[in-house]
Amino acid sequence: MGLTIGIIGLGRIGGFHADTLSGLPDVDGLIVADANPAAVDATTGRIPTARAVRDADAVLTAGVDAVVIASATPTHAALIEKSVGAGLPTFCEKPIALSVADSAELVRRIRDVDVPVQIGYNRRFDPAMAAARAAVAAGELGFVTTVRSTTLDPAPPPAAYVAASGGIFRDCAVHDFDTVRWVLDDEVVEVHAVGGNQGDPSFVDAGDVDSASVLLTFASGTIGVVSVTRYNGRGYDCRLEVHGSDDSVVAGWDDHTPVRNTQPGSTFPVGPAHRFFMDRFAAAYRAELSAFCAVAAGHATSPCSVHDALEVALIAEAATRSVEHHRPVRIDEIRSEFFAPQPQ
Ligand SMILES: NC(=O)c1ccc[n+]([C@@H]2O[C@H](COP(=O)([O-])OP(=O)(O)OC[C@H]3O[C@@H](n4cnc5c(N)ncnc54)[C@H](O)[C@@H]3O)[C@@H](O)[C@H]2O)c1
Repeated sequence: MGLTIGIIGLGRIGGFHADTLSGLPDVDGLIVADANPAAVDATTGRIPTARAVRDADAVLTAGVDAVVIASATPTHAALIEKSVGAGLPTFCEKPIALSVADSAELVRRIRDVDVPVQIGYNRRFDPAMAAARAAVAAGELGFVTTVRSTTLDPAPPPAAYVAASGGIFRDCAVHDFDTVRWVLDDEVVEVHAVGGNQGDPSFVDAGDVDSASVLLTFASGTIGVVSVTRYNGRGYDCRLEVHGSDDSVVAGWDDHTPVRNTQPGSTFPVGPAHRFFMDRFAAAYRAELSAFCAVAAGHATSPCSVHDALEVALIAEAATRSVEHHRPVRIDEIRSEFFAPQPQ
């Protein structure tokens, strides 16, 4: 028998996850809830195997085998705690909380609960990014000098989303931060970020930036460069490059990469450009949720833990502070504010 999956939150990504889950062979049915009745109606209208219940609590007590949390970020930590408290394997969209304090508190509160949690850093399931990671792990690149990760969105989200997002590092660059530490299997020790605003004034009003670049120093000495923007008119540009002493690899170069190549005679890439993250990563989202079904069925361990999400939150916090204070920020500076030193 297949799984019955509960879904909390049916907005942009939750509705998309409902579609994906309903097409997976491991899934028999969906129990869904959203605070917005129109989102519920849209989902149950599209998916015959989805049954709506009143709210998040009703999802958790409806006899589901596992839960997918795709509601707004401020709800994540409390819902993860409730879901694992009910003994249900839990997938939650990134990030686990808006602040490091809340992320660290969640990790503390569920420390002794033996129920798997998977966080939705979907790029781990992109075949090209996974191949880049495998090349690094196999030593094919020699020592890695530089890793570059880019997330260039074609157009900004609504001002209300930006105001509640926690800023470009906690909302957007977290994907890059997760990808680079996962690809290298290495930890960031220092962060130096700069931000700029040339777009809509609502970014300034929200205390945010519309574009940013971040230099990351890893424990090994590898240097990371993360570039993000809300204004990349040519399309959705998400790429990873890893350069080593022996070889270099790139993930995300295809005929839909949104760049205009000025090399005379070259026709690459032929286009059309990627426009939207859901199209660019459709296969990755499907693989991610298939992996969660294996976790929920007890066949696999979580491929992206709350500890991974907490490390990413520390990097995002350091980047945010680096821009505010115009200085490099050590990860230990942030960590020491939230975790007491361990007794020797
Ligand atoms: N991994 C990814 O690529 C990716 C992409 C997009 C969004 N996200 C994350 O997914 C989350 C949702 O983003 P979105 O773009 O879908 O936002 P959205 O605003 O479109 O949808 C959020 C939905 O959650 C519902 N909701 C809020 N509180 C609720 C509650 N207590 N119970 C039930 N429903 C509730 C809202 O009514 C809304 O329909 C965010 O945390 C975001 O960071 C991840």
